[in-house]
Amino acid sequence: MTTRVTFVGHATFLIESGESRILIDPFLVDNPATELTPADVQVDTILVTHGHGDHIADLVEVASNTNALVVSMVEISRWLGEKHGLTNLHEMNFGGTVQLPFGSVKMVPAVHTSGLPDGSYGGLPAGFVIRFPEGTVYFAGDTALFLDMELIARAGIDLAFLPIGDNYTMGPDDALEAVKILNPKRVVPCHYNTWPPIEQDPAAWAERVNEQTDTECIVLGSGQTIEL
Ligand code: NI
Ligand code: MN
Repeated sequence: MTTRVTFVGHATFLIESGESRILIDPFLVDNPATELTPADVQVDTILVTHGHGDHIADLVEVASNTNALVVSMVEISRWLGEKHGLTNLHEMNFGGTVQLPFGSVKMVPAVHTSGLPDGSYGGLPAGFVIRFPEGTVYFAGDTALFLDMELIARAGIDLAFLPIGDNYTMGPDDALEAVKILNPKRVVPCHYNTWPPIEQDPAAWAERVNEQTDTECIVLGSGQTIEL
């Protein structure tokens, strides 16, 4: 089996693992970093980190088109069912793990907010630790630096996707601290350069990571893929 993660752009990822196709945080039409539209996406599972538009704008359309299983925080899951009529839902909460065809998905905390676009309460924001046959991947979601990343590190992270954009999430300095705590084998930055408030130089950040840690930093352009 192989597992490949494509950085669609901003904080949206497409994972191909064996027969499974997984989309994380569907943000397509208004995402300046991708030309993909919901009609282009064929997936069986959608993971949602939190309720902000730049993570769920195209969620309902992709889920409706594909009937993919949507895995999210309880409050988002119930909102998707009650307000949008989705039925293929798996609700969970922090610390929980669900076994899916491609591996296990654990929901872990993130330090951020999670209001839904219509003002509904979206619960708290999350990250995911996913164990694939080829390795363990941490999708941090939108988050500030937090010390409990020490606990996440104990999972043994092979690959981490961390926001570096600043303003809405941790910026390059705190993301570097996060790498030092998480100690992943490889790290890929995300959630930067989509709009002016989150402009960053990912190559400069990669240089700092590669100089100051044992982690290999890989900068992926939109549409580029990394294999586990
Ligand atoms: Ni957010
Ligand atoms: Mn965001």
